[in-house]
Amino acid sequence: MALRVAVIGSGPAGIYTAEALVKQSLEPVRVDVLERLPTPYGLVRYGVAPDHTSIKSIANYLRRVLELPEVRFLGGVTLGPHVSVEDLLGSYDAVVYCTGAMVDRKLGIPGEDLPGSVAATDFVNWYCGHPDVDPGRFTLDSPEVAVIGVGNVAVDVVRVLAKTADELRATDVPHDVLERLSESQVKAIHMVGRRGPEHAKFTLKELRELGDLANADVCVRPDEAVVLGGDFPRQVQGNIKVLQSWAAREPVGRPRRLDVRFWLRPVEILGAERVEGLKLERTRLSEEGRVVGTGEFETLPVGMVLRSVGYQSVPLPGVPFSEQTMTVPNEAGRIREREYVAGWLKRGPTGVIGTNKSDAAETVRTLLADLEGRERVAAESIDALLAERGVRPVTYAEWLAIEAAETELARSLGRGERVKLVGLETMLRACRP
Ligand SMILES: Cc1cc2nc3c(=O)[nH]c(=O)nc-3n(C[C@H](O)[C@H](O)[C@H](O)COP(=O)(O)OP(=O)(O)OC[C@H]3O[C@@H](n4cnc5c(N)ncnc54)[C@H](O)[C@@H]3O)c2cc1C
Ligand SMILES: NC(=O)c1ccc[n+]([C@@H]2O[C@H](COP(=O)([O-])OP(=O)(O)OC[C@H]3O[C@@H](n4cnc5c(N)ncnc54)[C@H](OP(=O)(O)O)[C@@H]3O)[C@@H](O)[C@H]2O)c1
Repeated sequence: MALRVAVIGSGPAGIYTAEALVKQSLEPVRVDVLERLPTPYGLVRYGVAPDHTSIKSIANYLRRVLELPEVRFLGGVTLGPHVSVEDLLGSYDAVVYCTGAMVDRKLGIPGEDLPGSVAATDFVNWYCGHPDVDPGRFTLDSPEVAVIGVGNVAVDVVRVLAKTADELRATDVPHDVLERLSESQVKAIHMVGRRGPEHAKFTLKELRELGDLANADVCVRPDEAVVLGGDFPRQVQGNIKVLQSWAAREPVGRPRRLDVRFWLRPVEILGAERVEGLKLERTRLSEEGRVVGTGEFETLPVGMVLRSVGYQSVPLPGVPFSEQTMTVPNEAGRIREREYVAGWLKRGPTGVIGTNKSDAAETVRTLLADLEGRERVAAESIDALLAERGVRPVTYAEWLAIEAAETELARSLGRGERVKLVGLETMLRACRP
């Protein structure tokens, strides 16, 4: 009998896990990939910025895994409301949880919950057309916006704010979102780092792209671009060089302006009914290397604050979870007997898409070594169980029908290769006419 494995989540970690199972297993294997959305690929579809088309094309590689005869995609099936850990352990020899990191980290400052204070997770979901977020959710009616954090997600968010709607027209951004972007009143964007240029988390290629924006001048204050010491890794040296070159140039009057700021930490989001400003405190590093305030404050007159300070995982019902690391405790991917973890849920929300490949391969090595020579469990049928509960999974063929509808929508609108369909009902109507 084939080894039967359930992979929960169809982001890069889930699909690389399925691939590693097929490649590494010496005996026949069957892998079901259960995904809460009708669509596969996780953050490749609902995270990678719409204008990063070459990165998005990684989906072409992931697609080939889902098309392997040993692998089956079951969309619209959520661990929690639809199936429990017990159901999975009754139906499969092993389960690998790959549900990523879906929510934002909190800043823990006053005013964080005011209207206009927005988690980057929500904003990214919005421009990526995630079914959890209504396309009408955001109106960019404020001329000044702050983005807190200097990681690659902050850079993505800044780029989408800085570009014109026309520049994003050929991407897969949902049409309603594109219309909102075309009405944007944003003139000034402040990207704020709590430490110096040498500590920024963005990568050089992503940073450089900001300097090439046709619609925005990028400005850095010379005093904030000063970096002491010089023994930095190449990437960091590159970042510093680029930032210092921007500090030396004058704005040329482009319609929007991006200020990249350093050594400022957010202390309060100001406003009575909604965001009216962001209070920042200048910082320095203590002798122990911690960020400390200097008691010198400044206020940015922004009407929107985008908090891009990292993602975090959420506990899955019935699965161990550490509130300290916000990950699932594991040893080389093993959680406990027959249960495993891979991807952001395993190691936290860092690393690029490719990092999940080696990560998944490690988990699969552990799983196969543990299960070698073990008797297979008398498997119940997950299909029968789902049918009993009235859950009809979205098949891979149905997902292809959603894709085809997105291609057709792009054609009818005269836009690029694909325009995202938004909303579960719309997607289901497209694949089950
Ligand atoms: C905004 C953003 C942009 C990024 N851009 C890039 C980039 O340009 N290049 C790059 O290399 N890396 C990028 N990354 C990093 C990359 O996306 C991650 O390394 C990768 O997606 C993590 O993979 P994962 O499978 O662990 O999680 P995810 O990709 O988040 O996949 C998790 C999947 O699990 C599903 N799921 C969640 N809960 C359940 C449940 N209860 N039941 C069933 N399914 C569930 C989700 O719907 C999702 O499909 C970006 C990350 C972010 C946040
Ligand atoms: N194009 C790409 O390749 C791409 C695109 C998007 C994302 N990704 C990857 O996805 C992962 C997640 O990216 P991310 O940008 O969400 O996370 P990240 O790289 O961890 O960056 C988070 C940023 O938030 C700051 N921050 C955290 N807490 C803060 C606080 N309380 N106050 C102020 N600032 C705070 C951090 O500053 P400190 O350093 O001081 O903590 C850091 O600048 C990364 O590995 C990233 O490279 C890649």
